[in-house]
Amino acid sequence: MRLTPQQIAQFDREGYLFFPSLFSPEETKVLTDAVPALYARREAYNVREKGGEAVRTNFAAHLYSEPFAKLARHPRMVEPVMDLFDEAVYMHQFKINGKMAFEGDVWQWHQDYGTWLNDDMMPTERAMNVAIFLDDVNEFNGPLMFIPGSHKKGVVEAKHDLTTTSYPLWTVDNDLITQLVERAGGKDGGIVSPKGPAGSMILFHSCLVHASTSNLSPWNRVSVYLSLCAVSNHIRRFKRPEYIAHRDFTPIACLPDDCLRRDYPVDLPWKQGMPASALVTSPEPIDQIRKAA
Ligand code: SIN
Ligand code: MN
Repeated sequence: MRLTPQQIAQFDREGYLFFPSLFSPEETKVLTDAVPALYARREAYNVREKGGEAVRTNFAAHLYSEPFAKLARHPRMVEPVMDLFDEAVYMHQFKINGKMAFEGDVWQWHQDYGTWLNDDMMPTERAMNVAIFLDDVNEFNGPLMFIPGSHKKGVVEAKHDLTTTSYPLWTVDNDLITQLVERAGGKDGGIVSPKGPAGSMILFHSCLVHASTSNLSPWNRVSVYLSLCAVSNHIRRFKRPEYIAHRDFTPIACLPDDCLRRDYPVDLPWKQGMPASALVTSPEPIDQIRKAA
C-alpha cells in the first residue's frame, strides 16, 4: 500500500494517519480469535495489569503465533513505513495491548522514541508505530489520544515512571503536556483520538506524544502495535529483554496482500518456547559487549 502525496504532507504536519476499516471483518477475525489463547499463557511476555490478571500487553506474538507472524509482514502495515523512510525496516517491538473491559489501565503521556532512545539506544527517531484495532474503538473504551504536531518537538523531557502502571515508561510531565496541547490548538483540536471499527489502522510518528485513559466500559479495546525501525537505525543496547526490544535486524519481507485470508508459510522461531538468551540483558552498548567478547 502506497501513501499519496497528500497523506505524506498530512503525516508530516500532524504526525499520524488514520485509515478507518482498512482490514475487513474476515481478516480481523483471524487475529482476534487467536488472542485469548495467547493471553492465557503464563509467560514473561504477557505483562498483566498492576494487581490484576488482565493482560495489559502481550509481546512478540509474531515469533510464536501464525496469524500475528503474517500481520508482521502485511504490506498494508509495513509498506507505508518503508515509503516514509525510503529504507527497509525491521521489527523493533510487537505488542498486542489488551485494555480489557473494566480492567484496562492508563498509558501515561509519552513518546515511544523517548523509551527507545533512553533504554535501547536507538540512534534516531527513524522508527514508527503502526496500530490495528482488533475491537471497535469508541470514546468509552480508552482510545489512544494524540497531541497533533507534537512530533515536531523532537525528543522532549521525560521521567522514568516505574510505579504508575505495571509497565515502566519514560513519561512527560503535566506542565509540558499543557503547553503542547495549547500549541496544538487547545480545546480546538489540541488533543485528538481516532476512533472507528475493528480493522482500522493508525500510523504514528515515534515522537508523537500520546496516552490513553483506563477502560471503564464493558468493551475490550484490543489493539496490535508494530514498531518498525529503519534497518540502519537499529538499537545499540540490549538493556531490555529480547521479547520487548528485538535484536534481529533482518529487513522484513512483505507477504501478499491476501496473507491473512490464505495459507502462507511463516517462520515461528519461538513456537516451542522463548530461548533463555531472550532474557539476558546488559547495560553496556553492543559494540562494547562485542569488543569484550
Ligand atoms: C502505547 O502507547 O504503547 C500503548 C497505548 C495504548 O495502547 O493505549
Ligand atoms: Mn506508546
